[in-house]
Amino acid sequence: MTPAEQHNPCTNPPYGIQLAGIGAFVPKATLTNADLEGLVDTNDEWITSRTGIKQRHIVSGDETVGELAIAAAKDTLASAGMEGKDLDLIIVGTSTPDTIYPAVACQVQHAIGATNAAGFDLSLACSGFVYGTVVAQQFLMSGMYKTALVMGADIHSRTVDWTDRNTCVLFGDGSGAAIYTAEQGAPNRFFANDLHMDGSFGKELTLYTNFDNCPTVEPRTPRTKPEQLLYMNGREMFKFATRVVPESINTTLKKANMTLDDIDYVVLHQANIRIMESMSERLGIPPEKLITHIAPVGNTSAASIPIAINHAVRTGKIKKGHKLLLCGFGAGAAWGSTILEWTAVDQRPPLSEAAMADTAAAHPVLEPALA
Ligand code: ACO
Repeated sequence: MTPAEQHNPCTNPPYGIQLAGIGAFVPKATLTNADLEGLVDTNDEWITSRTGIKQRHIVSGDETVGELAIAAAKDTLASAGMEGKDLDLIIVGTSTPDTIYPAVACQVQHAIGATNAAGFDLSLACSGFVYGTVVAQQFLMSGMYKTALVMGADIHSRTVDWTDRNTCVLFGDGSGAAIYTAEQGAPNRFFANDLHMDGSFGKELTLYTNFDNCPTVEPRTPRTKPEQLLYMNGREMFKFATRVVPESINTTLKKANMTLDDIDYVVLHQANIRIMESMSERLGIPPEKLITHIAPVGNTSAASIPIAINHAVRTGKIKKGHKLLLCGFGAGAAWGSTILEWTAVDQRPPLSEAAMADTAAAHPVLEPALA
C-alpha cells in the first residue's frame, strides 16, 4: 500500500459517525424483458443470463430525477425519524440531472424543507453514492457538520438509445439515500475507505451532452445518430471492473485491519449479476454474503447501492450491528469502497403483509410501496 493508502482517517476521529437511516424510490412504470423484445432484437434468455435483469422501473411523462430524489429523501428521513431541517449537508450523486443547474441537491433541499443544509451534486456515474458517502464522512469526522443526507439518483431511460440493444437493456431509473450523523467522542462506525479514478477509461463509457457551438464559429462535429448520447464498451468495462474492484476491496479491508470474515454483507454496484459473481469468485465472497437486487430494477447507476441496501433492510436481512462493505464502480472510470457498521433502527412502519408476500416472489420490488 502507498503511504496515502496506509493512512486511515477513520481511526479515532474527533467526531464518530453513525448511520441513521436508509430509503429509496423507483418510478411506477415498468419495462420487462418481454417489452424490450418489441423494441430491439433481444430476448429474455439473453438478458437474464448476461445481466440478471428481469425488469426495470422507468420514468414516464414529465417525471424528473429531482422528483425521484425528493421521494427517496422523504423515505430516508422517515427511516431516520428526522425532518428536513435536521440536515446540515445534502450530496446527490447523479449523472442525469434534469437541469445542470439548479443542482438536484437544491431541488431536494427546497422540497424537504432542509433550511439549514448546504449541498451539491456529484457527477461520478455509478460510483456517485460511495464517493458521496466518503466525502460526507470528511465533513462529519471533522465536526463541520452533524447530519448528512447522501443520495444516488439517476434516469438513464432518457439517455440510452432505444435502438441499441447493447445498452438499452441494462439500465433502470431510481433513487436511494442514506443519512449519516456525527457525535463528538462517539465511536466511529466507518472503518476505512478507498477511492480511485482512471480517466484513460473515459472513452469506454461516456454520456455526452448535446450542447452546440455559437453559430458564428465552426459547428461541432455531429455524432452519427443524435440519439446516441450514451456510448458503452461493455466488454472493456467488464474486464476493467473485475480487475480493479477486488483490488480496492482488499485495500479497504487491509486499512480497516479486517478480513472478509469480519464482513456480514458485501454490496457492490448492481451493474450486472455476472460482474458481481465474477468479483465475488475472485475475492472468495460466499454467495450468502453478497447482496444482489438487480432482477426487479436493473442497473440504477448511482442509486443502485442504496436501493439494494434499502431492500435488504426492509426484508430483514441487514440488521443493527452488521458490518457492510460497499463498492461502487463505473464511468470515469471511477471506483471506491467503504466499510461501515449498520447502526440504524428503521423508524418506518413495517411493510404490509402484501408487500412482505411480494418479497417471496421472483422479482420483489418494495420501493414503489412508498406512501
Ligand atoms: N440481446 C441479444 N444479443 C445482444 C444484446 C442483447 N440485448 N446485446 C448484445 N448482444 C450480442 C452482441 O451483439 C454480441 O453479438 P456478436 O457476438 O454476434 O457480436 C453478443 O451478444 C455478445 O456481446 P458482448 O458485448 O460480448 O456481451 P457480454 O457478454 O459482454 O455482455 C454486457 C454485455 C451485459 C453489456 C456486459 O459486457 C456488461 O455488463 N459490461 C459491464 C457494464 C458495466 O459494468 N458498466 C459500468 C457500470 S454502468 C455506469 O457507470 C453508468
